[in-house]
Amino acid sequence: MSLKDKIDLQRLPEHIAIIMDGNGRWAQERSEDRLYGHHEGVQSVRQIVEACAELKIHYLTLYAFSTENWDRPRAEVEGIMELLVTTIRKEIESLHKNNIRLHVIGETEQLPALCRQELKEAINMTADNNGLNLVMALSYSARWEIARAARLLAEDVGKGDISLGAITPKVFGDYLCTKAFPDPELMIRTSGEYRISNFLLYQLAYAELYFTDTLWPDFRKENLYEAILNYQSRERRFGKTSEQIQ
Ligand code: IPE
Ligand code: IPE
Ligand code: MG
Repeated sequence: MSLKDKIDLQRLPEHIAIIMDGNGRWAQERSEDRLYGHHEGVQSVRQIVEACAELKIHYLTLYAFSTENWDRPRAEVEGIMELLVTTIRKEIESLHKNNIRLHVIGETEQLPALCRQELKEAINMTADNNGLNLVMALSYSARWEIARAARLLAEDVGKGDISLGAITPKVFGDYLCTKAFPDPELMIRTSGEYRISNFLLYQLAYAELYFTDTLWPDFRKENLYEAILNYQSRERRFGKTSEQIQ
């Protein structure tokens, strides 16, 4: 029985979020420039998007570039931005054909104009698709997102559109970039780092966390299946007792 066949299709996570980490180390292990690792990482993105679409997962969020990543050496940042543009150009037709809808979360105003333009076209082109929702986190950080939500909410309170007493976790969530998406049930991080690095801090409250030593450019469909199987072996209690769940 293959790993894929072992997956219980009735208990799939609706939303998987991934911190795609380890590109730089993957390249350095091969005495190559870090950018080579980012290029190879695109193959993994293609594979994982395809696997999620095949499994009929509804949402896949990929952390591709953080607010903090702007502080990397200029050549690496520029290389990643160029890679982003060429990848969107190359992949968009196939995403569209596969009924995938593209979304972006993050401070996109920070991205180079060409990048913003490509993203805008790709988002518009796929806007009516109703298969996998592919959410790219670009120039994203959760603290930026939460501070932005607080600002927007304060504005609405100031205008009298919402009262202080009406602010609940659900209402607050509606001010986040992810308001249209359910919270991820499964969060995967590659490369053996055990941290969240400013990713979806609000939304991951009850996500199952899965860490693997595999570096992102080596992460393939089988690795995803393993993560999903591991997720399916867990008991999600949401604060209740085990007996209450059964
Ligand atoms: C993840 O890989 C991709 C980005 C953060 C853009 P890294 O570039 O962080 O790779 P490592 O962690 O240095 O190996
Ligand atoms: C997190 O990886 C961001 C992305 C994968 C886009 P980093 O490599 O930037 O995280 P740290 O610095 O190791 O925490
Ligand atoms: Mg890293």
